[in-house]
Amino acid sequence: MRVVSGIQPTGNLHLGNYLGAIRNWVRMQDAMEEGQECFFFLADLHAISQPHDPAELKRGTLEMAAALVACGIDPTRSTLFNQAQVPAHAELQWLLNGTARMGWLNRMTQWKDKAGKNREGQSVALFGYPVLQAADVLLYQATHVPVGEDQKQHLELARDIAQKFNNDFASEDAPVFTLPEPTVPPQAARIMSLRNGSAKMSKSDPSEMSRIALVDDADAIMKKVRKAKTDPEPLPSEEAGLEDRPEALNLVTIYAALSDTDAASVLRDFGGEGFGKFKPALGELMIDKLSPISQRLRELLADPEEIDAILARGAAKARESAAPTLTAAYQALGLLRH
Ligand code: TYM
Repeated sequence: MRVVSGIQPTGNLHLGNYLGAIRNWVRMQDAMEEGQECFFFLADLHAISQPHDPAELKRGTLEMAAALVACGIDPTRSTLFNQAQVPAHAELQWLLNGTARMGWLNRMTQWKDKAGKNREGQSVALFGYPVLQAADVLLYQATHVPVGEDQKQHLELARDIAQKFNNDFASEDAPVFTLPEPTVPPQAARIMSLRNGSAKMSKSDPSEMSRIALVDDADAIMKKVRKAKTDPEPLPSEEAGLEDRPEALNLVTIYAALSDTDAASVLRDFGGEGFGKFKPALGELMIDKLSPISQRLRELLADPEEIDAILARGAAKARESAAPTLTAAYQALGLLRH
């Protein structure tokens, strides 16, 4: 088992990243047995696909690395690094660009969402983004890639690229790439904005009130939860009653994920109650679960050299692990004479 996953170091880590991905990374790391490995990285190369500020990217990379450690990623057990220190990611992307098809990339919903009506004005990197993502996981022969629902399509594309490359350039008994399996955690696979139950919670939403950041203090959390958009109805006693109530569903989903239960059990406790009672309970639960993380994060950020050292050690390990697959890809394509 080889677990590989990444996160863009843009802006603060939020509850959607935590419940949709990071918490699951930590659980997979903690369940690892002898001979199995986890690789977690900051997708800083992906971050340049859209307009960015270099100083902010530098700061974001440091903060996100610290946040992952604060959430429970242990750099002595998992390989934690940033892509930019491992040139094999960019190299393999180029090699895979020969295999990926324009039509496949054109169908990516993230490309369509981010480009909107202005496709001509987007960077080539935004279009090729999923090919880099494929390189990220194929380099390490990933078997499992824990992601939120929104990244599943990119991982399916990575499988298609791996399959076509193996078919075109490798023999059946010696494939160059392993086909990775996207694993979406059953709970909280999709956490929505607190201002709009139909849009995902996202770092790029201009409203701070739409997301809970892991650095938010207790007051900020409570304020955001109290102001979260809801409807005037009380909570139903059964899940079916949440249909067509996206905001209510989102808050119940968050409560269930944080308390490690499911929506049905939350509704058994709160069915019939109004949001005047449910919201403070949710706010308390969030504060309870997130405050140890934000406390640890503040401590880590006080020592940036240590975070740099963690990333440097992780990158050295990643470079070593990536080398054989990169060489095999060059060889398969006829780019190396031996
Ligand atoms: P990113 O940085 O947008 O998000 C990191 C992880 O958090 C999940 N996520 C969510 N889950 C539930 N609800 C939400 N509102 C929510 N928002 C984000 C994402 O699904 C993701 O798992 N392209 C990727 C980064 C990446 C990557 C990779 C991931 C680059 N290379 C290789 C896996 C494997 C991205 O932008 O994720």
